[in-house]
Amino acid sequence: MNRRKIRDGVYWMGAVDWERRLFDSLIPLPDGTSYNAYLVEGTEKVALLDTVDPPKIDTLLSQLAGVPKIDYIVSHHAEQDHSGSIGPVLEKYPGAKVVATPRGKGMLIDALAIPEEAFLTVEDGEQLSLGGKTLRFIHTPWVHWPETMVTYLEEEHILFSCDFFGSHIATSDLYVTDEGRVEEAAKRYFAEIMAPFRPQIEKNLEKLREYDIQMIAPSHGQIYDRPAFIVDLYREWVSAPPKNLVVIPYVSMHGSTDKMVKHLAAALVDRGVRVELFDLSVTDIGRLAMALLDAATIVVGTCTVLVGPHPLAAYATLLANALKPKARFLSIVGSYGWGGKAVETLAGMIPNLKVEVLDPVICKGAPRETDLKALDDLAAAIAHKHEQEQLA
Ligand code: FEO
Repeated sequence: MNRRKIRDGVYWMGAVDWERRLFDSLIPLPDGTSYNAYLVEGTEKVALLDTVDPPKIDTLLSQLAGVPKIDYIVSHHAEQDHSGSIGPVLEKYPGAKVVATPRGKGMLIDALAIPEEAFLTVEDGEQLSLGGKTLRFIHTPWVHWPETMVTYLEEEHILFSCDFFGSHIATSDLYVTDEGRVEEAAKRYFAEIMAPFRPQIEKNLEKLREYDIQMIAPSHGQIYDRPAFIVDLYREWVSAPPKNLVVIPYVSMHGSTDKMVKHLAAALVDRGVRVELFDLSVTDIGRLAMALLDAATIVVGTCTVLVGPHPLAAYATLLANALKPKARFLSIVGSYGWGGKAVETLAGMIPNLKVEVLDPVICKGAPRETDLKALDDLAAAIAHKHEQEQLA
């Protein structure tokens, strides 16, 4: 795609990655993604805000073909999908300065071996005039790396937010046109990438309150010309209490754990508790991450493999621990053939979770009446806890 005008002297640049299906060798991208860069032209200076993932450098260079000079390359974030092409852009514009936070400078030197003299570091709140266009740099640490910052274009009231408020969507629509679709994509993005940093994001949201933001231009997905839409969603995801929802990631080899999970789910629904089940042998991990964002209770279902939990159950448990969801309760259900330590192993994998662990239900072989009764008791205990916490 060619560059696209947003305002006089302000352009979207970058690349839409329609084919990409996995990020960081971990995160599913069902809708592709984009790497948005932006060009801001003042009367005296020109700034490029972010670059693109290295495989897309030819797209960015073709968009820069008619741009005779770049004075500043603003790096909001050292991750490669935004900064990985700084080298080739610097080669084209050898006089340009790379603008970054002090911490960002160190990380860019580590990752890209950019020479120290190429940098201009900026402090929190520092301004840079391009002539009629003023960039104000706002440090937003841990959104989602320690060095991250955003840029506020004062005259146009545009916030260039990089990953903050981003969504993985490949589209030719420059602006948000379908808020429902974007809400789902942005929630998936938040759940997978931002969720572990909810306290820091809350602080950064507060920090942005003082700015009159009329447009948010992230570095993934579409531009928000109604910023309240995404800011309000972020406030909810960061600080709203969990919902009256039990998320059950599970895996079953011969049907016993599957039977237990289905029985537990039915017992919960009978007691007015919503459930979401994820068969880990086929599930989209991004959807599980989104559900974890809302869940008040997590129940991991696992069969036993070589005396431990099934590796897929261990993976889901590690993921939940890493994402630090708001969940307040956790339990484990499952089965074994002749012995095992699945519960002990999984229980040792959740040091980050501030949860009350409810009595697990583990059966030998196929579940019997006593096991099903224990699952009913677990459902009743969960429903009671949710009621006590007044979860909606
Ligand atoms: Fe889009 Fe953290 O990189």
